[in-house]
Amino acid sequence: MSGRFDGKVAIVTGGASGIGEATVRRLHGEGATVVVADIRQEAIATLTASIASDRIVGHRVDMIDAADIEAMIAAAVDRCARLDILVNNAGIGSFGKVTDIDLAHWREVMGVDVEGVMWASRTAMPHLERSEGNIVNVASIAGIGGDYGFAAYNAAKAAVINLTRAMALDHAPRVRVNVVSPGLTRTPLATGLTENPAIMAAWTDGLPLGRPAEPAEVAAAIAFLASADASYVNGHNLVVDGGGVAHTGMPNFTRILEGASHLDGAETLVRR
Ligand SMILES: NC(=O)c1ccc[n+]([C@@H]2O[C@H](COP(=O)([O-])OP(=O)(O)OC[C@H]3O[C@@H](n4cnc5c(N)ncnc54)[C@H](O)[C@@H]3O)[C@@H](O)[C@H]2O)c1
Repeated sequence: MSGRFDGKVAIVTGGASGIGEATVRRLHGEGATVVVADIRQEAIATLTASIASDRIVGHRVDMIDAADIEAMIAAAVDRCARLDILVNNAGIGSFGKVTDIDLAHWREVMGVDVEGVMWASRTAMPHLERSEGNIVNVASIAGIGGDYGFAAYNAAKAAVINLTRAMALDHAPRVRVNVVSPGLTRTPLATGLTENPAIMAAWTDGLPLGRPAEPAEVAAAIAFLASADASYVNGHNLVVDGGGVAHTGMPNFTRILEGASHLDGAETLVRR
């Protein structure tokens, strides 16, 4: 059976875990040769051994280091002779108000989450122009609005979303650039949230789908944008959050009015 990515070469940064790992599995499963690029050599080895395919290549990279990023792109092109897809997924979390964090922390978050995306995109661009390839960045719903105690992460992920739009203009028509913004996703990065019952109850209460995403559900959106199915999609921020940011923040009137007839309840709320 032919796959959407037969003959294509993809790099997935942060590919050894969570959303990155699910993306590696999805792109490989649909025919791509995939470079698993991650800072954790052991995790790369575990994943590449578990997939055990000549279309899976491991590469250690620290996305805060420009020379490392250049070596990653060069190694992929040397080994696979082309590059079609760059998934800028590697990212680190951050918690704290601006008064809680210091410059070193701010620079680390910006370095991995923003600068790494910019430098990998810049370095990959000539190869992607040659193959008429594309970039999929991974931001977050935290890049769409503000959150309590997430100052650096909010700033970093908003930067990724708008960098995506800028690159989508500058590098069209040869290279499409899109971004996926996941909501809460069950990965090692988010275990502090997903394994805390109080946080989970508060979070999922406001979520129309009532649960976090599985990594494969985010990977499916990344694969769509990376594929020819999205050949006319450029500069798009695809939110994969179970409908959370569809909400304006108004109270759940339907629930408050439960028991009253719909019409009676509505009359107490809005003048018609
Ligand atoms: N899990 C969530 O709820 C969630 C929600 C929204 C956005 N995201 C974003 O999704 C992306 C993937 O996160 P995840 O949840 O799968 O996390 P994860 O921790 O499971 O995976 C992240 C991977 O990135 C690698 N990594 C970290 N720093 C690196 C560096 N300097 N260089 C190279 N690799 C590095 C880690 O080793 C790890 O394998 C991140 O950009 C994150 O901000 C996650």
